[in-house]
Amino acid sequence: MNLTGGWHWHVRAWRSKARWAPACAQIADWLMAQDMPRQQLVLVGASAGWMLPTAWLAQFEEVHAWDIDPWAKPLFHVRHGRQLKGLGRRVHLHTGDGLARLPESVRSMPGAFFWFDNVLGQLRFTGRPLQDTAQRLARLQHQMAGVAWGSVHDRMSGPHRAGATLPPARQAQAGWAMESAPGQAWLHSMGALSPWLDHLTEQVLPPGTPVQYTAWSFKPGYAHWLEMGWCPKKT
Ligand SMILES: C[S@@+](CC[C@H](N)C(=O)[O-])C[C@H]1O[C@@H](n2cnc3c(N)ncnc32)[C@H](O)[C@@H]1O
Repeated sequence: MNLTGGWHWHVRAWRSKARWAPACAQIADWLMAQDMPRQQLVLVGASAGWMLPTAWLAQFEEVHAWDIDPWAKPLFHVRHGRQLKGLGRRVHLHTGDGLARLPESVRSMPGAFFWFDNVLGQLRFTGRPLQDTAQRLARLQHQMAGVAWGSVHDRMSGPHRAGATLPPARQAQAGWAMESAPGQAWLHSMGALSPWLDHLTEQVLPPGTPVQYTAWSFKPGYAHWLEMGWCPKKT
């Protein structure tokens, strides 16, 4: 069973368009301002690209989108693919495990930009021991060192104070521990009420990577701390 996507994700995303709009706008502004290589894009956990701007995708000549969810392909086509093809972009939509496929994708597309699209913070729900998942996530930066890559992922999520206004996007450097002073201040600014869930992604991006933190109003009274950042290819 896919606990991180599938029809319930699509229904939630569809119904939450207005609620999610501020977070989507922050992600879009950040993506559009980055200077990543823009020939090939490999999207992992693309789903229908509910939180991605078509304008950013259109900057790539070729897009490969991976998702294990069979609904992702037709819905991504409707939301982005049709328009991208109309603009002359090459679009390849794959149904399958984009994470298992990474070594092959990295080997075959060394010049591509790899983007983990809100998938890494979901790995804690796959039923594996949490320590193994945390170690797997911390190893990813080494696995990806030969290509340019980045990720938007949940750092933490949980309930917030009724009526709390979520803070604007915050620029920072990766590596804020949840219990650090800036981590606590950020959670406080979101009106976080204990307990919050750790998505085990603290070590995904190398410490010091420029990141944006976005507070995402996921559902009434419940918010996610999103982190987004990327790393150039190591020469
Ligand atoms: C939280 S959803 C985000 C979806 C998408 N990025 C969006 O914003 O609409 C996580 C997605 O990751 C997908 N996923 C989970 N594990 C995956 C894997 N190993 N390979 C490819 N996709 C995966 C799920 O099916 C789901 O669509």
